[in-house]
Formats: sequence, structure tokens, C-alpha cells
Amino acid sequence: AVQGAMAKAVALAPDNWIPGGEPDPLIRERYGHVGKPLSRIDGPLKVSGQARFAAEFPMDGMVYAALVFSTIAKGRIATIDTALAEASPGVVAVMDHRNAPRLAPPPVFMSAPKAAGGDNLPIMQGNDVRWNGEPVAVVLGETQEQANHAASLIRVIYEEAPALTSFAEARGQGTRPAVFMGQSLHDERGDAEAALAKAEVQVDATYLTPRHNHNAIELHGVTAAWQGDVLRIHDASQLVAHTAWSIGQMFGMAEDKVVVTSPFVGGGFGGKCLWQHQVLAAMAAKVTDRPVRLVLSREGVYRVVGGRSPTEQRVALGADREGRLKALIHTGVTIKTATNAMPEPFILPTRSAYASDTLKLDVQVVELDMLANTFMRAPGESVGTFALESAIDELAEALDIDPIELRIRNEPEKDPSTGLPFSSRHIVEAWRDGAQRFGWARRDPRPGLRREGEWLIGMGCATGTYPYYRMPGGAARITLTRDGRAIVDIAAHEMGMGTATAQTQVTAERLGLPLDKVSFNYGDSTLPGVVLAGGSQQTASIGAAVGAAHRDLVKALLKLAGNESPVAGLGPGDVVSREEGLCKADEPSRHETYTSILARAGRETISVEAEGPPPLETMHWSMHSHAAMFCEVRVNAVTGEPRVSRFLGSFDCGRILNPKTAMSQFRGGIIMGLGLALMEETQFDERKGRVMNPSLAEYHVPVHMDVPEIDAIWTDIPDPHAPMGARGIGEIGITGTAAAVANAIYNATCKRVRDLPITLDKLL
Ligand code: MOS
Repeated sequence: AVQGAMAKAVALAPDNWIPGGEPDPLIRERYGHVGKPLSRIDGPLKVSGQARFAAEFPMDGMVYAALVFSTIAKGRIATIDTALAEASPGVVAVMDHRNAPRLAPPPVFMSAPKAAGGDNLPIMQGNDVRWNGEPVAVVLGETQEQANHAASLIRVIYEEAPALTSFAEARGQGTRPAVFMGQSLHDERGDAEAALAKAEVQVDATYLTPRHNHNAIELHGVTAAWQGDVLRIHDASQLVAHTAWSIGQMFGMAEDKVVVTSPFVGGGFGGKCLWQHQVLAAMAAKVTDRPVRLVLSREGVYRVVGGRSPTEQRVALGADREGRLKALIHTGVTIKTATNAMPEPFILPTRSAYASDTLKLDVQVVELDMLANTFMRAPGESVGTFALESAIDELAEALDIDPIELRIRNEPEKDPSTGLPFSSRHIVEAWRDGAQRFGWARRDPRPGLRREGEWLIGMGCATGTYPYYRMPGGAARITLTRDGRAIVDIAAHEMGMGTATAQTQVTAERLGLPLDKVSFNYGDSTLPGVVLAGGSQQTASIGAAVGAAHRDLVKALLKLAGNESPVAGLGPGDVVSREEGLCKADEPSRHETYTSILARAGRETISVEAEGPPPLETMHWSMHSHAAMFCEVRVNAVTGEPRVSRFLGSFDCGRILNPKTAMSQFRGGIIMGLGLALMEETQFDERKGRVMNPSLAEYHVPVHMDVPEIDAIWTDIPDPHAPMGARGIGEIGITGTAAAVANAIYNATCKRVRDLPITLDKLL
């Protein structure tokens, strides 16, 4: 079936490609670029220290910024004494609400197509305080050290107002239905509670996940300068076009007067969007009339950049003795602020997971006085799969059925929530391949029996899943030059995923060029396209745009070729890109190189820009990446210390464009999943609404010593409805992982831990 779909795809002319209606013709000729384990083209720059990050752009006359953070959750600044700071050596200026430039509030993400704000609170425009840790002053110094010291001299007296900072207290005041990206997070089919009550076997449990904070290696940093009427911002960004537009809105400027560049990003994960620091830097650059560099301290990232909210989830499963689901209930509560648009959507993975007679899904929210929470590393799916896939394991135990078999027995034929057919779902293959490779047959289903000395050993598994997204607005420019090179320009992002590398491969394959003749330019808001490096959808977004530009390029080339060309008289549906030029698809000898076409026309370059078609594919098909996760743990019977000893992710994510960069994506995701399972937890003082562990010393993420060799395999079955056959791979590794760990720990110890992280105290 797959080969049939591919053959049909290849047979289609590019002009006929309508995602949502017909499969992508992928790349009509195969040169072996796609699927090759090419090393990252930005790798040498990074390891040799030549890659320049946002806070590494030197500018003449630059000043350094240090922030002062509020120490109350709500209220107002009664007095702020900056005299000592202003008199401190090297201080150029102090900015607070009294002398900050007036500007509009940030457009909150989702409120407009290019809105980038983490929330829509005005930035340093008044004396009110909205969360504990909000910036109340910015000190600008000749050196970072002078600015930091002067910031410590600022004295603020607050008038505190009553703040709502306790989850339990807020819940007592009532919850309300969550809305995520404009969609309801409530879904019901049949009477799930009644079906649960009647079911022969039931599991009904509550799962807790804590707050999490972003901890990219690269701290959030920005260099901002006013150059004539242009605001120049070097940012670390997952969305340069959105950021330029949003900052333009705030300062009342046309978006083309705000230039945001971000050539390298040292980790994003949902956190490198628009927060206060970029805006404060731009404001401070106005106040001082000098370029400003503002790097958040690690503490500053916790104070200014939102993270993930805690969740309290109920999963209830009712099944018959054969393990067929009669009821699937996944409900719960999470926290957001009144001013952001991101309730943690933990039921998302459950919508398309299993066939069940009845279904009930619901997310409720409460609103606290805190920093806006945000997208963070597979929002929804990472913590949602912990609850769902732990419960499935509990059901397997109750039924005495192998947990893999139980999952396969409940495979849906079509999307249970939407009724749409799956574009491509080969999760059963992923389970079978993974089970064989991991040695699942060697697992003893009876928990607590395998022991080596002090170490209890167990194996567990879980399903991972992440949706395919493709947001509208992806556009790209392709330029061919007289010397036979192709340049792709698109306002996309390289956060270390390998985007530039994979897209160079894709472009070379499409155009029939060697890799070294393709350049991929990105990370600049003046380039075409509105592309978000988030939701694991950037690859599809770029791919659709480059596909559309390629199609238009072929048309333009045919026009330019004229009557003397070997391809004269042919339409775009008759030709393919091959051997650095165009030829008739069924008569390859009728071939002319791009160089020859340009030379005859007396042109130095030819350039086309096109937007990818609207993402209609997601209206026709239920599109998701899938994974089968396998974990082996060792838990110390004396200390309770859990150690992951082996991990395998078996993925079904469509075509893998570059197995080397994909392997890193999968491994990186799984490592984040291990942190979620065993370590990460923001300590939030509910009395004061303050984050108490804003450092990597007290907020633990996995380091090399915590991570075993991680294995990953994949089906590599192209999705006929995704550009290039590739669904997203960025976030899926994080999903399912925590449940696989928890289930392995249960198998090792007989202890079912339902609240993350699973620290040793919970295993004693
Ligand atoms: Mo991801 S949390 O969409 O950057």
C-alpha cells in the first residue's frame, strides 16, 4: 500500500499537488541525498566556537543590562530608590516604570497570526506588580559586572495585595473549561462513566505532574540597537517573523523596520519566544541611545520565561476480560494565568490513542497570579502520556495481559475522536520491531522478582505520540545562479535540530543538485515566510514552501528556456529536475542545465518566491507520529535510587530525511523524557508565588551520567499526506518516556508511583 501511494505520488505532476487532496509528489527523482546520514553543516562552526549566538554580537558603544525582579506576587511599587545604583561606577542609566518608553502591550500568542507574546501584560508601563519575579528595573552599565552590582543596590518598597498563588485554593473557587489553540479540550462519546461502572475490569487513578521550567543550555539573550529608523535585534528565537511583527506592534512600527535575526539557538523547546527581555532591551536601547546586550541569568530565565504548569489528571479505564476498552476517561485540572493562552493540553494524546466504546476527555483550568506558563517540550503529550500510558499498564496488570498486546488489541481503525482516517499509522510495526530488538520476551511480567545484588530490575513500555502540525504562512525563495548554485531563503530556525542540514538535502534532491551547490539561509525576519519552530512542524512547513517554490521555479525556467531549448514546448507537468537542470520526464536526453538556460537568456540569476499551500491535509486525515518506548530500570533496594539502564524508542514518524540528525532528535527527546520521569520539578512556594529553585543546582535535569546508551529505530514508512513524506520528530521522544520508566519501575519494585518525578524517596 505504501509503495502504491508512493508510486501514485511520484506519478503526479507538481502542479497537481494539493496537500489535503493529493499526496505530495515528494521528490520526483531520487539522488540519495534524502535519507543520507549527513553530519550537521553547522557542526564545524559550533565546535570551533565560530557560531555566533544572540548575546555574542559585539556592537560599538554597547551597554550591558541587569534586571531587578519583584519579590511579591501582586501589588504595586510604592517607592523605588535607584540613587545608589545610578551613582555606582560604570552605570549609564537605570530604567524603571517611571522613565521607560511608552508602548503597547505584547500581542499574546494565537491572538493574531504573527503574535508572539508569552502573555499580553504591558511591560514596565506602570507601578503594578503581576507576578513574583517580574522585572521592576533595568540597570545599564559599561560592563555586565557593574550593571549586576548596581542592580543589587536598588531598593524597592512594595504595597502587597492579596494574591492567588495556591492550586488548591484556586480549585476551591472553581475551575473552568480550558481552550487550547482555539479548540475545546472537552470530548465525549457515549456515557463513559456508566460504561466504566459496568466494565468487568476497571482502573481509576489520579496522576500528578509538577511544574517545570525551561533550561536551554543557551540562556535567553538579546542584543538590541536602534539604527536610524530600524530596530535591530539579535535574538535567540523560535519565531523571528512573529517576533519582528509583535515588537513592531508594541513600538508602533512597521514590521519591516524591526529586523530580528537568530542564526543559532542553543536550545528552544518552546521557551525561546517573545518574553519581556527582548522588549526591555529595545526600550533600554532607546533610553540610553546605545546598543544594549541583555542576557538573562539562569535565575532570570525562571523569573521571566514561562514554563510548564502542574497537572492533576484522572485516567479511568474500563475493559472486558479480553482487554477491549469499554470506557476511556481522561480528565483533570491545570493552571494558567489570566493573560496567556496556554492551558497544558494533557488530553491531546488520548484523543486518537485507542478504540474504546465510550470516551470522555476534559481539561479544566484555574488561574493564578504567577508568571505566564507556556509551551514546553511536547506540551500536553509529554505529561498526558505519562497518565494515560501508566493507566494502560495498570490495566494490563489487572487483566494479566501483556501490555503490548493490550495496546495492539485496542488499535483504532480510524481516529476515534474525529472519525478521520489516519494518514499513516504503523504503530503495530513499531511495537513488534521494538519488542524484538529490546528483548521484551525476556521480561518477567510478575513484578519485583528480578534482582542482581542490591538492584531490582524491571522492564516497562509505553506508547509515545505527537500530532503532525503544519501552520499556514510558510513561504520560501529559491534563487538559481549562473554558476549553477541554488540558494533557499526562508525565515526558519536552527535550534540544533539539524534543520539547515536536512533542508539542504531536500532542496538538493528536489533540484537535482549536488549538496555543495545548495545554500540554506534562515534565521532572519527579512527573509520570506512565517515559520514557527515549534509543534514539531517546522520541517513540514519549510518542505511545503520549498516544494511550492520549486514548482514555480520550474515554470519560470521553462519560460526562460525559450524555443531553442531541448525542453522547449514542455509544460511543468512534463519535466523533472535532474542532473543540475530540467529534462523531459520520459525522455531524459531532452535535458538542459540551469546554467545553460540562464546563460542563453543572459541572466545572472532567476529567483522565485512562493507560499506553501494551506495545510488542508490535517482536515482530511488524522496525522500523528507514533512511538513504542521500551525501558529497563535498576532500582537500588537499599537506597531507592532509580537508574535507567537501557532505553529503546521504536518510532513511526513517516520518512526520515536524515537518520543522523533524526537519531539525535529522538535521543534528545528521550533524555528530556527521562528528566520528566525522574528529576525535573520546579519548587513553587505557594505562599508567595515564588520559584524557589531557579538554578541548575537545585532544578535537576539529566546529565550524561544519568543517561544510558539510548537506542532508536524507525519504520521509515513515508506518510503520503505530509510534505516529503515526513511527519515531525522533534517532540515525540519526550512522550511516552516517563510512563515507560514508571512502568519499568513498577515491574522492578511492585511500586506504582503516580506522581512525578519518581525520586528515590518515593521508592523506599
Ligand atoms: Mo515546542 S514546546 O512546540 O517548541
